[in-house]
Amino acid sequence: MRVVRGAGVAVVVGAVAGLAAGPAATWTGGSASTPQEPPEGRELVEALGCAACHAGVPDGGTIRGAARPFGAGTALIAPAYLFHYLADPQTVRPDIAPARMPRYELDERQRVALALFVTNDEELRGMDDAMRAAMARHPDADRTTGAALFETLNCAGCHAHPDVAPRATAPDLSATGQRVREDWLGGYLSAPVTIRPAGPVPGRGGQMPDFRLSAAEVEAITGFLMEQRGADIPAWEPLALSPFAGAKAATLLRDRWSCLGCHQLGDDGGRIGPRLDGIADRLRPAYVRALIQDPGHLAPGTVMPASLEQPDRMDLIASYLVRREGAWAGSEAVAGMPALPDVGAAAPGAAVDGAALYNAQCAACHGVQGGGDGFNAPFLPVAPTVHADSAAMSQRPDDTLYDGIHAGGWILGKSHRMPAFGASLSHEQKRALVAHIRVLCRCEGPAWSRDGRRGR
Ligand code: HEC
Ligand code: HEC
Ligand code: HEC
Ligand code: HEC
Repeated sequence: MRVVRGAGVAVVVGAVAGLAAGPAATWTGGSASTPQEPPEGRELVEALGCAACHAGVPDGGTIRGAARPFGAGTALIAPAYLFHYLADPQTVRPDIAPARMPRYELDERQRVALALFVTNDEELRGMDDAMRAAMARHPDADRTTGAALFETLNCAGCHAHPDVAPRATAPDLSATGQRVREDWLGGYLSAPVTIRPAGPVPGRGGQMPDFRLSAAEVEAITGFLMEQRGADIPAWEPLALSPFAGAKAATLLRDRWSCLGCHQLGDDGGRIGPRLDGIADRLRPAYVRALIQDPGHLAPGTVMPASLEQPDRMDLIASYLVRREGAWAGSEAVAGMPALPDVGAAAPGAAVDGAALYNAQCAACHGVQGGGDGFNAPFLPVAPTVHADSAAMSQRPDDTLYDGIHAGGWILGKSHRMPAFGASLSHEQKRALVAHIRVLCRCEGPAWSRDGRRGR
């Protein structure tokens, strides 16, 4: 795991307030009569190509001109050059400043695979001893692995490639100023660490690369992002917790709520969402409180379900989390995670696709085929139900499955780490999930439960 750099970056805020308002504002060059400072932060965000991966930041539209295309028909590029360059990207063309190739955390196997995929030298000339030795150590690092990495890491966001489409799945930054702490943001931009252990789309991986920004660049970008306040978050102050209330919150989290099905806290918990230790170092308390109640609104497309608990319980849990001792140190990326199928957004008005919904929301624990073997299963105290088990599943009426999805595992006397999706999924979606479980188990519920009830 990489380590967060000290969070002491000073930041100038307020210089470009007028420009943060809308995408129409464009910097057209400075002059002596300009009353404001040049909007450096915005210019940098545009030139560096942050929008290649992130929603909610201005797109300068120039990054694809600065980053060369790859694939058939483009200038020849040798595998060994790629292999070494990816370990430590150097400036090739100083004239494209401030655009640059960011640095990813890649191990040797990943660099071999990427080099084999990206090179268009079919005969693999231009190999050197170092790369030959690395290939011998990693015989499984092939073009297919490389293609998957190229997609996961979104190289195609900047480098056009005929076989890989760009995918801008990184977090929406349009409300950064309402969500995060300024000192944390400066430290993160200087030295990014893993936040979401399985990627922004859990199970699909992904990484925030290191742009090796100068202190002045960090300051300018931090200032710009802190002005992005595109969310209405109600004011909220954490409660002062008595030792009794703190113990109660800890017990609820461990033994009753489903949060730790997805989140790690201390030594316990799953790897679908970010680690919750020390989140007060990173996030604003009011954001934490609002997110628990309505995650879909604040982190669009997230798999985190809205809590069904009472508001005073949410106050208690949010207060406990932001007051708990412990420093924020990022998460550890899940290693060797098999990539879940890409689900993509459903076309508006399309019928609910139970399989796609299951892959997006359930497969991290239950596995794509319902084998109970998703990447998050090893981090749960109770193994997820094997939905492919027709003997067991044919004992369960559809209504029972529906209730478990709606209200969570505890209502069936099952593990409370099975989340309640009732506040986040529609009736049609829950029915489509039950129907998909029936596909996975190739079974029906008990006969008594089906009589006259097909219409639910
Ligand atoms: C190649 C894709 C890519 C590019 C380009 C990129 N990012 Fe990221 N960024 C990510 C991913 C993926 C994450 C989520 C990382 C995680 O959760 O561990 C992320 C996370 C972040 C976060 C933390 C967001 C949060 O709320 O958790 C910030 C801030 C950020 N990026 C800013 C930037 C800025 C500024 C730029 C341009 C200089 C940039 N990113 C360019 C992929 C990218
Ligand atoms: C945020 C945009 C961005 C992303 C994402 C990105 N690159 Fe780059 N890359 C660049 C830019 C800009 C350059 C040109 C740097 C220069 O000329 O100094 C570059 C240069 C390179 C070069 C050197 C090309 C040459 O002509 O010498 C290679 C190789 C490369 N990138 C591979 C990758 C791979 C593989 C990935 C994904 C793991 C990736 N890049 C992701 C922007 C990006
Ligand atoms: C089904 C899995 C799941 C469950 C259950 C879940 N979360 Fe999350 N949570 C996530 C994911 C994924 C994210 C990352 C959202 C994003 O930014 O895209 C997240 C984000 C968060 C964040 C912001 C963390 C950060 O560093 O950005 C907090 C705080 C949080 N969840 C608290 C909770 C609490 C409290 C509960 C229980 C009431 C809970 N979550 C239940 C998956 C889950
Ligand atoms: C964080 C991991 C996790 C996620 C995400 C998750 N589940 Fe579960 N699920 C579990 C666990 C653990 C159990 C309980 C196993 C036990 O107690 O035997 C369970 C149990 C169930 C049950 C009860 C089955 C029975 O035994 O009667 C159903 C139904 C179910 N899950 C459906 C889903 C669906 C549908 C989704 C996606 C919308 C989903 N689960 C998402 C972990 C998860």
